Amino acid sequence: MTIRKIAQIGNPILRQSAGKLLREELATPEVQNFIDDLIETMRDANGAGLAAPQVYEPVAICCIEVDENPRYPYKPKVPLTVLVNPEIEVLGDETFENYEGCLSVPNLRGLVSRAIRIRVRAWDREGNDIDEEIAGITAGTYQHEVDHLLGSLFIDKVSDPCTLCTWTEFQRNHEAEFARRVREIVARVGS
Ligand code: NI
Repeated sequence: MTIRKIAQIGNPILRQSAGKLLREELATPEVQNFIDDLIETMRDANGAGLAAPQVYEPVAICCIEVDENPRYPYKPKVPLTVLVNPEIEVLGDETFENYEGCLSVPNLRGLVSRAIRIRVRAWDREGNDIDEEIAGITAGTYQHEVDHLLGSLFIDKVSDPCTLCTWTEFQRNHEAEFARRVREIVARVGS
């Protein structure tokens, strides 16, 4: 496995729509090895997720995993999930304000409005169908990663630029209040 280099904001690869895969392509050793690299790179960088375009591969694959994460100590845990060709459908009209960061946008966080309930349809890495409803903070993580496959970054969706902050200023000024809101959402919707 190889730790890949992570593309940074300004690189055109982050602004392309990722190409969908056929099941035959997904099954090749090249793509399976790439998925191993994507997971390894996410873990090495302490990401909560990573999308293929962020490691210079414009294909519709992303992974998500939240365990004990020093970048996001308040995030509910999510087991390792690989999504291939994911499609998100928003359920209902309730949203929440999610403080997001991104491995491709160094040292910046900002508030993004996200749907609190979504349905995700995708394949897993073996090509099996995934069809799940996801709620809460984890739904925000899914939306952030799938946005990468559409050429969109979280900063495109920050409605109030006054919420932008460095990671140090987030910890100093916003983390305690945001962590309190996260705990409320987790208590209410379960993740
Ligand atoms: Ni990101």
